[in-house]
Amino acid sequence: MRSDPLAYLTSELDTLKQQGLYRHLRILEDEQKAKTTFDHRQVVNLSSNNYLGLTTHPRLREAALEATRRFGVGSGSVRTIAGTMEIHMELERRLAAFKQTEAVVVFQSGFAANAGTVAAVLSKEDVVVSDALNHASIIDGARLSRATIKVFPHKDVDAARRVLRDLPSAQRKLLITDGVFSMDGDLGALPELCALAEEFGCIMMVDDAHASGVFGKNGRGTVDHFGMHGRVDIQVGTLSKAIGALGGYVAGTRDLIDFLYHRARPFLFSTSHPPAVAAACIAAIDVLMEEPQIIDRLWENARFFKSGLEALGFDTGLSASPITPVIAGEGALAMKLSDRLFQEGVFAQGLAFPTVPRDKARVRTIVTATHTRDELQFALDVFAKVGRELEII
Ligand SMILES: Cc1ncc(COP(=O)(O)O)c(C=O)c1O
Repeated sequence: MRSDPLAYLTSELDTLKQQGLYRHLRILEDEQKAKTTFDHRQVVNLSSNNYLGLTTHPRLREAALEATRRFGVGSGSVRTIAGTMEIHMELERRLAAFKQTEAVVVFQSGFAANAGTVAAVLSKEDVVVSDALNHASIIDGARLSRATIKVFPHKDVDAARRVLRDLPSAQRKLLITDGVFSMDGDLGALPELCALAEEFGCIMMVDDAHASGVFGKNGRGTVDHFGMHGRVDIQVGTLSKAIGALGGYVAGTRDLIDFLYHRARPFLFSTSHPPAVAAACIAAIDVLMEEPQIIDRLWENARFFKSGLEALGFDTGLSASPITPVIAGEGALAMKLSDRLFQEGVFAQGLAFPTVPRDKARVRTIVTATHTRDELQFALDVFAKVGRELEII
């Protein structure tokens, strides 16, 4: 009999189990809401990126249903063959107006937008200068581009400057940061990096996945938040988190977008969004423009919950966004914390190495605009109880 050529995967999984780092997928049995049911248990949900509650917003739901009735469930092709529908073009026009850039291209996900764009605009003679905590999709795009990757320590602008100073001035360089870092909830050093990009002639790129719909006027992102309009060449946003549906986009000049239409591989080689997704995203932009009080509610909730965790004595790191880590230390402890919270009715995902540094394992909390004060107070009470039980506070 043939021996199993994948047996090494089983032994890697066994190692994860021994380390207490093996996770099963929690199954959502209801809608993606602030209080919902995972694995047969009703919990306060602090693990979703549904910042504004738009996954279940009536206007998005209705727009998706109407688009499905009119146009069917699939687009049937990649964008460059037969899969560009008028609704895809409308979404790109609406996003460009929203982001105040000349043009936008929409990808199937934020991951595809980052990886596809970095890989398309660079080649092996070029250099990517990247924050150490940038998202995996940026790193994958950089690897695919075959450019040289230079990583500077998280938010260390002086270190980024030293990297840039040592590079030939004629060399093409991409300087790139997340707008909001997904594991720590802190903001990228965007103003300082924009100044560096100008000094050293770099292409400046920001991944605003967790800032889309959260930071800036009407949720336009960190470029708007920091007043950096016109100084960032490539802005990536996601439609999968606060926007409530699915997708990613790149905002920039008309030529950048035309180039990506011709060279970004996820755009060229993967089928476009179902019309329902595009329609839901258009409705989400309407909500951001017409109901900005949702964003205010998100921030009020974030402040309440973050200050509650801090008052209890938890280490919440450097968070400046609705993402608040609760740092436990080693991986097994963070996973235990997450499991105990869940048993007590609070879902906060545990994160350990290699997603975060080995000694900074944590549970990550994300509040949304739709959590009630009672739900958040309940979650704080559970954190207090379990935190004391595990001697984290
Ligand atoms: C910082 C960051 N960039 C990009 C992405 C990818 O976005 P999407 O989920 O739309 O693929 C994520 C999501 O996990 C993220 O956290």
